[in-house]
Amino acid sequence: MTDLDLDFVRAQFPAFSEPSLDAFAHFENAGGSYACRQTIEWLDRYYRQTKVQPYYDFPASRLAGEQMDAAKQRMAAWLNVGTDELHFGPSTSQNSYVIAQALRQELEPGDEMIVTNQDHEANVGAWARLEDAGIVVREWKIDPDTAELHPMDLEALLTERTRAVAFTHCSNVVASINPVREITDLIHEVGAWAIVDGVSFCPHGLPDIAATGADVYFFSLYKVYGPHLGAMFLRQGLNAELPYQGHFFNADKPSARFTPAGPDHAQIAAVNGVMDYMDALARHHGNSVATVAEKAETVRTLFRDHESDLLQPLLDYLSGHPKVKLIGKDRAPVRAPTVAFTAEGRSSADLAGRLAEFKLGVGVGHFYAYRLVEALGIDTDDGVVRTSFVHYTSPEEIARLIKALDTLL
Ligand SMILES: Cc1ncc(COP(=O)(O)O)c(C=O)c1O
Repeated sequence: MTDLDLDFVRAQFPAFSEPSLDAFAHFENAGGSYACRQTIEWLDRYYRQTKVQPYYDFPASRLAGEQMDAAKQRMAAWLNVGTDELHFGPSTSQNSYVIAQALRQELEPGDEMIVTNQDHEANVGAWARLEDAGIVVREWKIDPDTAELHPMDLEALLTERTRAVAFTHCSNVVASINPVREITDLIHEVGAWAIVDGVSFCPHGLPDIAATGADVYFFSLYKVYGPHLGAMFLRQGLNAELPYQGHFFNADKPSARFTPAGPDHAQIAAVNGVMDYMDALARHHGNSVATVAEKAETVRTLFRDHESDLLQPLLDYLSGHPKVKLIGKDRAPVRAPTVAFTAEGRSSADLAGRLAEFKLGVGVGHFYAYRLVEALGIDTDDGVVRTSFVHYTSPEEIARLIKALDTLL
């Protein structure tokens, strides 16, 4: 396998040649990534050429619909799921609330649902509210010393009344990659549904969703180099089983049953931009004639290897610093490059502000993983400092970050 060609990668992102962002290093990618040029070009083209109601017979309308369909087909194929199993909504939070409405109608008082305290609130609050419909909501808790979720603890919570378990593929603060298949297998043993938040995992390589065993899998395209949309995989059988949440006359259309919000046509078409970028990456790194599955694997491996190489020095620095409390594991291969920490005697907000003076954009707060930050005994008002990067980050940017931290800490 060749190494990631970083010059090629960065040439695909207009932000790197944008004068106003010159010398700025983006370390808040877990909040939102830069958009690749292909996404921007698709949006621009859509607004110029096909900004009409899609799916009618006049040429611009036909083309608009074809472009939207192509985006869905291409992304579904890359994720190894059926085209009718992939849905676009305004955001992951919105998608989870829609599915929760369906569960509210489907579940019965006394049924049980399990959530974690490692998740972003988008994959907790929607389900926790089912308590007011008589659903028993249990919490799969992290180990407060390590911030990790242990499948053994989930096993102890599963019963024959468990109908669904919502957990994260990778937390947006702890960043460990949870053993998703092991967990979905445990959930299926009791006949429950596995609802997986993949928002923090997907920017580091779009997964083979079929292989995860998830029944529902959420991610957000604005963190995956694309437009501001939420993507949701909903297993075909589950789609048919849950009560529809859209207009009554669309009740038989799998693609309309759980997307009540009128879709943003231009943004859906612009998902083609993400796919063009993924294809270009595979092609540039020597995989032009491969199957979609092979191309997806090539891109995942390129991302993982590059990110791991950059991540380990940052983890070594932070875990070796006497004043720093690193959250999560200190070995790069088992985690995403989303690195949260607190520093003894320092306010996180103050530290993040000082890093901004070095033209380093980092995040600070609880990142809506409120229950996690609280469970770790951290002040939720001040929260943690979070530095998060992706495959387009350079070794020089990492060196700058470490140097600035070393000056400030
Ligand atoms: C892990 C995780 N899950 C869910 C969400 C919610 O995604 P959205 O903003 O698309 O609602 C986020 C957003 O930051 C997130 O980081």
